[in-house]
Amino acid sequence: MTDIFDFEPRVDEYAVMGNPIKHSKSPQIHSLFAEQTQQSIHYTAIQVDSGGFKQAVGNFAAHKGKGLNITVPFKEEAWALVDERSERAEHAGAVNTIKFLNSGKLYGDNTDGVGLVNDLKNNYKIAIASKRVLLMGAGGAARGVLAPLLNEKPAGIVVVNRTQSKAKELAEHFADLGEISGCGYDSLSGQQFDIIINATAASLQGALPPLPDKLVPAEASCYDMMYGQQTPFMQWAARQGVQTIADGLGMLVEQAAESFFIWRKVRPDTGTVLAILRKEISI
Ligand code: ATR
Repeated sequence: MTDIFDFEPRVDEYAVMGNPIKHSKSPQIHSLFAEQTQQSIHYTAIQVDSGGFKQAVGNFAAHKGKGLNITVPFKEEAWALVDERSERAEHAGAVNTIKFLNSGKLYGDNTDGVGLVNDLKNNYKIAIASKRVLLMGAGGAARGVLAPLLNEKPAGIVVVNRTQSKAKELAEHFADLGEISGCGYDSLSGQQFDIIINATAASLQGALPPLPDKLVPAEASCYDMMYGQQTPFMQWAARQGVQTIADGLGMLVEQAAESFFIWRKVRPDTGTVLAILRKEISI
């Protein structure tokens, strides 16, 4: 009688898909999570051309793929592609995490919002409950975080956007989840907020949305979803005397941790990984 041993190493494959993808920190973050939690995974970055997303996901599944992160510009396409969605992904209209189920079906979630909320609450100790929140921007980034933000029961969220109609549409879409309204920047004077979150693409262009003075007291918090530089919005917050000013590096690590949990059912410690990344970008 011969015993048959299967020595094939069992490494589960994960990846992030997007375009461009070269500068993604996700492979580093997930490798650090895997090392820390002793999970046997391999995580890569895959650049996908426009029109090739569905096929790329199919190919990945066929090669032992267990899960994917999806980034710009494919989050909406991923939302349309998956078979099942979490409630928060349903609301966001975008999927950043895919899990390949044993049934062969694709499960889609969106961890961006919970990543932001966890960074605010756990890393910066900023409570959202009962706070007046201003969310700048009405594109995909804003839409992706609104359900988890409203879930924290703020006193209210005002969505402000350069194109006012998009802010109003977004507010209407989320009105069933809590107190939310939309407006243009010229409606902000005379108002005050406890938390301002920048979800616009303005920082990418080195631009500052037209915010009036006296919008925030010193105890307020200003959060830019971008990371890697002191953005014009963060500089504006400093000029206004705001004490807590944050970039989006923690959100990046926290959304990754939530994806890791969805795939592996293990929650990594984000603090140590965030400290490594913070040291590398040195701001
Ligand atoms: P994303 O997926 O990153 O949200 P998007 O869907 O293109 O990208 O949305 C970009 C957001 O940034 C929009 O809300 C945009 O405002 P408009 O809807 O008026 O275009 C906002 N935005 C971009 N540049 C901006 C700027 N210089 N000042 C203020 N808002 C800006």
